[in-house]
Amino acid sequence: MQQEALQEITAADTLEALQAVKTKYVGKKGLITQQLGGLGQLPPEERKARGAEINVVRQAIQAALDEKEGTLKRAALDAKLRSEAVDVTLPGLGLPSGGLHPITRVYDDLIGIYRQMGYAVVEGPEVEEEHYNFEALNVPWYHPARDLQDTFWLEDGRLLRTHTSPMQIRYMVDHEPPLKIVVRGKVYRYEATDATHESMFHQLEGLVVGEGISMADLKGTIAEMARGLYGPSAKVRFQPSYYPFVEPGADFAVYWDNPRGESKWLELGGCGMVHPNVFKAVDDLREQAGKDRIYEGMTGFAFGLGPERIAMLKYGIPDIRYFYANDPKVMGQFRGEL
Ligand code: PHE
Repeated sequence: MQQEALQEITAADTLEALQAVKTKYVGKKGLITQQLGGLGQLPPEERKARGAEINVVRQAIQAALDEKEGTLKRAALDAKLRSEAVDVTLPGLGLPSGGLHPITRVYDDLIGIYRQMGYAVVEGPEVEEEHYNFEALNVPWYHPARDLQDTFWLEDGRLLRTHTSPMQIRYMVDHEPPLKIVVRGKVYRYEATDATHESMFHQLEGLVVGEGISMADLKGTIAEMARGLYGPSAKVRFQPSYYPFVEPGADFAVYWDNPRGESKWLELGGCGMVHPNVFKAVDDLREQAGKDRIYEGMTGFAFGLGPERIAMLKYGIPDIRYFYANDPKVMGQFRGEL
């Protein structure tokens, strides 16, 4: 029996097969177990010797079983390790590449143009004080922009800035002229959304202050920007308009040979010469902060425009809400290209 058992153990090439052999010989109802159980039937004088014999066989079988079990387990582990091994020399999986948001691209274009003209680029707080967003910018209490309807107010009396113009004030309080800055950032308006209105959008604000800055400088700057964006054919148009923080004030539009076909005037933003009341408000704030009054008598211009308008036209996006809906079908088209 020992012979047979050892042969079967050698032949077992899986752990399951080995388990079957184990059950057959040394299991609860196995052959060896049965023989040990049968000892009781023998005459007492034979039991001891027979018992010892069976035990020798049992131990030999058990030892062979244990050894084979070890071998099979090691082989199984080796196979598992081999199959799960990571080949670090394989090329990586191609992850889908991201891309820059269309608004970021338009900002990059615009800011590139202004950097070339020597402007510093700054940002400012989106949660703003009423004084910086309105009063200091000469926005009277009766101006429609002050309407509760148009502004997101915070419970502490602050607000979400409705334009980037408050950075004009903050920057002038902290810096001395001459200065040339553009401000990039988000602005918020509490109004119904539709294809051309969102409650959050972006602005690029410009401010230039020095001695003898004139409306001609403003027009030249806007024309330079238009040519930078749309090439040498670009023309600009200014129409009188009203913003409390500039005088005179204007809206400007750009016209260029549009490769998509129909060319038309694109209304881009507002601009004008910095209102003397704005310089006065800045000097008041400077005085409160223990600084010199240096802005009275200065001249400067400011402008503000919306990158969304440029991006909608540039990329043929028909609805401003697509920019912020995070729809992969829309944003997926801006992958890869930077
Ligand atoms: N702040 C104005 C707006 O949001 C735009 C503007 C900026 C107009 C600077 C004139 C000068 O509509």
